[in-house]
Amino acid sequence: MNKMTLDRILQSQGFGTRKWCRELITDGEVRIAGEVCTDYRATPDTSGLVFTLFDEEWVYREHVYIALNKPPDIECSRKPSHHPGVLSLLPEQFSWRDVQPVGRLDHDTTGLLLLSDDGAFIHAQSSPKKHVPKLYLASTHDPVTPELLTQLMNGVKLHDEPAPLAAQSCSMVSSHQIEIVLEQGKYHQVKRMLAAAGNHCSALRRIAIGGLTLEALGLEEGEWCYLEADHLALLSDK
Ligand code: URA
Repeated sequence: MNKMTLDRILQSQGFGTRKWCRELITDGEVRIAGEVCTDYRATPDTSGLVFTLFDEEWVYREHVYIALNKPPDIECSRKPSHHPGVLSLLPEQFSWRDVQPVGRLDHDTTGLLLLSDDGAFIHAQSSPKKHVPKLYLASTHDPVTPELLTQLMNGVKLHDEPAPLAAQSCSMVSSHQIEIVLEQGKYHQVKRMLAAAGNHCSALRRIAIGGLTLEALGLEEGEWCYLEADHLALLSDK
């Protein structure tokens, strides 16, 4: 079994530097099973470990997998320039743990965004080989026509893409809204596909990734939750 000392455990969970975590422990701020533990060299079993820091309860997680309902005017980039960064919506520990968004949504796109500190997970989810379908609700400036849907399904040519890009599926929701499923995640893909098909995307919301839907997660805009194993399994459900 991997024996980690308590100071390293706290550090791994994003509570600051090892020195700072030692101070928290020796100051009596950490409890395990209701008992204050002032020994930073203690090696509690991390599987199922629940500890209390400043009277708040935390479950030890080797990695974190997070779903966020992204509001508008938030940037996904690591160095946001015009709007607050997405990590500003999450507890500070996640930045310390180097949590990153899985792919990006534009600053004005809302909806389901995954984040994690598990590099292998981020890589696998972002890989074009994985073909994870992503469902978007797009509002259009001009009315939706059958020709628009046909063009999106048949594929449209974007100027920097060698081959036309097609929707995996596409349907009309209302006179000015479509649902569109994409397997790729090219830069501004929905907006550029709609423009190439002669319309204009006026608002965009991602509502599902694989079988994981925002609705099932029940997240209001700006809210987040941990994804557990059953949620993660849904990501490969098509
Ligand atoms: N397509 C876009 O155009 N923007 C997004 O944020 C996601 C997909």
